[in-house]
Amino acid sequence: FSAFLTDSFGRRHSYLRISLTEKCNLRCQYCMPEEGVPLTPKADLLTTEEILTLARLFVKEGVDKIRLTGGEPLIRPDVVNIVAQLRQLEGLRTIGITTNGINLARLLPQLQKAGLSAVNISLDTLVPAKFEFIVRRKGFHKVMEGIHKAIELGYSPVKVNCVVMRGLNEDELLDFVALTKGLPLDVRFIEYMPFDGNKWNFKKMVSYKEMLDTLQQRWPELEKLPEEESSTAKAFKIPGFQGQVSFITSMSEHFCGTCNRLRITADGNLKVCLFGNSEVSLRDHLRAGASEEELLSIIGAAVGRKKRQHAGMFNISQMKNRPMILIELFLTLQ
Ligand code: GTP
Ligand code: 5AD
Ligand code: SF4
Repeated sequence: FSAFLTDSFGRRHSYLRISLTEKCNLRCQYCMPEEGVPLTPKADLLTTEEILTLARLFVKEGVDKIRLTGGEPLIRPDVVNIVAQLRQLEGLRTIGITTNGINLARLLPQLQKAGLSAVNISLDTLVPAKFEFIVRRKGFHKVMEGIHKAIELGYSPVKVNCVVMRGLNEDELLDFVALTKGLPLDVRFIEYMPFDGNKWNFKKMVSYKEMLDTLQQRWPELEKLPEEESSTAKAFKIPGFQGQVSFITSMSEHFCGTCNRLRITADGNLKVCLFGNSEVSLRDHLRAGASEEELLSIIGAAVGRKKRQHAGMFNISQMKNRPMILIELFLTLQ
């Protein structure tokens, strides 16, 4: 495995998240302010050619999974073409996308033909009116249609990302779990994370333990599934149910120790961690005509500076972070 993609703690970074755009057709309260975020001028965003050049380089060094994110990746007009070209890269096993689902039903058949292997869809409520309140736009039925289209086209499991916020949707946990009875979904409850401007506070965060407790009271037979390496999620299943439920415990139990992710923002910065602010512009070096070797040494230096852990509760007070939407999103965890 490439020394450039291995950090000083021995973590091998084989999973690259590429943000295709900062724009989004929704305005989720936990992600973006109502008015949206200041967008980078188009000329400063990575072109499709640049995205592919970088992807090629990372795959050559050992990346075997790429996830396309945003903003909302499906509003980039050439997203199908990007997937098709990524599919040509030898060594790339998985191409995933994280989407809000609005344009999914319409685009998924083409994306699947182009070679898309996995779909994660954000959905925080099953109540249409609440959906409009959380995302500040209409579209609940389109998202549901997208989820069903993904199932129909054979994606399994279809991952549903649900950010859990006290007073908003924590009363819907059991309804989300019930969906996994007859559908091959992986419903993933995400601990609400703070990003600049999303009005996060402790009281709104519902912890993994608390969510698990709620589920166990209703389904004592809930079974823990074996941990997958480098997964962000702890998975469980109710015997007899088709799907499963997972928890993404970014706040209460970070998973930095097995992190295998790198991300590239829509404006071409390499971010070695979702949290943490050190970014290096690969775009500027590309545009200045850097050779592959030069790019690799820049990437290697950034990966080498990656800290042991960033996420979790310990550094919230000093966090000066981009909103999720500008990270990769997301999401990045914009
Ligand atoms: P899979 O590849 O299917 O496991 O998806 P994923 O969980 O890596 O990606 P997704 O885009 O679906 O993100 C879901 C949630 O994972 C986000 O809301 C974040 O909370 C969390 N997440 C993703 N990447 C990172 C990361 O690098 N660090 C941390 N701390 N959390 C992350
Ligand atoms: N906390 C937790 N998850 C978040 N996401 C966006 N913002 C936050 C936040 N503040 C999630 C989205 C999407 C994923 C990429 O990140 O719901 O599913
Ligand atoms: Fe858009 Fe995703 Fe942010 Fe919601 S969480 S506003 S869907 S980028």
